Amino acid sequence: MITRPIPEPDGLTSLRSLQQLIKQRNLLAALRVFHADLGDVFRISLPGLQTIMLAGAEANRFVLVEARDKLHWRTEDDPVTSLLRDGVLVTDGEAHDALRNSMNRPMHKQSLTQYVETMVTCTDAVIDNWSPNQPMDMLVEMRKVALMILTETLFKVDIAPDMDRMWQPILKTIQYISPGLWILWKQVPRPGYAGRIREMNDYLYQIIDARRAIIHEGEANDLLGILIASGMNNDLIRDQLLTMLIAGHDTSTALLAWALYMLTTHPVVMEQVKQEVDTVLGTTPPTIDNISQLSYLGQVIDETLRMYPPIHLGSRHITEDLEFDGFVLPAGIRLMYSIYLTHYHPKYWDDPDTFNPERFSTQNKRKIAPYTYLPFGGGARNCIGTAFALVESKVILARIIQRFDLSFTGHHVKMKMGATLEPHPNVMVNVRKRLTD
Ligand code: HEM
Repeated sequence: MITRPIPEPDGLTSLRSLQQLIKQRNLLAALRVFHADLGDVFRISLPGLQTIMLAGAEANRFVLVEARDKLHWRTEDDPVTSLLRDGVLVTDGEAHDALRNSMNRPMHKQSLTQYVETMVTCTDAVIDNWSPNQPMDMLVEMRKVALMILTETLFKVDIAPDMDRMWQPILKTIQYISPGLWILWKQVPRPGYAGRIREMNDYLYQIIDARRAIIHEGEANDLLGILIASGMNNDLIRDQLLTMLIAGHDTSTALLAWALYMLTTHPVVMEQVKQEVDTVLGTTPPTIDNISQLSYLGQVIDETLRMYPPIHLGSRHITEDLEFDGFVLPAGIRLMYSIYLTHYHPKYWDDPDTFNPERFSTQNKRKIAPYTYLPFGGGARNCIGTAFALVESKVILARIIQRFDLSFTGHHVKMKMGATLEPHPNVMVNVRKRLTD
């Protein structure tokens, strides 16, 4: 077998990427320089971090399908693992597949139909409080909506009365797994998290205990009820609930905040969405049937996910030497597939920096090749919440646009690599009730 050395940035590439990093103040801009200079496979070597980055359709297919069994998600010295313990996201092999099977039912399309009404009620509960006199922060507002929907649909729990109390524990828990110095220096002291994570755990164990006390009252078809009925112990259930709570609301929050930013900064697109919503819905609340006719809004969501994929990369641990495209990928090293670089790959996307929902029109969508667009990952470990997130984002955005006029306040945002790729510092939007409301 003839193999080639994996390209690494030389002095010039490093300098150019540093320039981009300083100019755009984000690491992804620097990564794009590496990709342009080195191709779809390159190595990043930093003190404390050795990683191989992959981009492009073939590489994505390799990671997600072909080499899936030899690439493990879990690494024991990772905060995501210490937080989620035995959550489906951080387990591998048969244990993963068994957990995943036990969690699939409430995520199916049939279950989603029942969630739409709750999605509308939760959206209304938040937007009813919007005040026309001050710009609203969409990152905050969308987090409230997403949290309420997730807990109500999957746990049958109303988080609203506990929202204020749980806000900081939730944010702190997310911050705990966000990229930081710990990536380079595993033993870095991380004070200030333990107490908040304990509050988070107490909340979840209380929810589990409360449900156990009434489980005999009938068959449960929500996630929490199904997990209890499956015979799992409280610790394992807590791990799945926390996984779903974090993975299922922080991503949606980022998507919704980005979508509202793109809509308010692209008034022509906003007008088209508004016309579609008015024509299809009128004053009828969104339902599973009528949202399927909101095709242009769907395109806006797809294009937002292309430009700002909330999960911008997937990370794996190589368990045995592998070969891809003439490169040896050695065991023991971290491997990442970059959703972000794939979504800006000049081979697949014309003018990738332009927001253009037309890319996802029915006609154009057919031309998008497999594994070139993967905001929800792919293969057996693809996102369990894909259908949920797509329905949810359509319902929330349609409901907001049905009831409010939104306009840009002039505050531009940048990409921030938290646990998700989110707009920073916040998405400030002027809101005004529509006359039809
Ligand atoms: C816009 C919203 C969302 C995006 C962009 C997103 C993205 C992703 C991606 C890219 C992966 C695969 C990561 C990898 O390959 O390492 C993933 C996995 C996962 N997502 Fe999502 N997600 C979203 C919403 C949700 C929701 C609503 C839920 C749950 C209610 C959820 C739960 C999960 C779980 C549990 C996994 C792990 C699946 C497994 O390993 O088998 N996500 N998500």
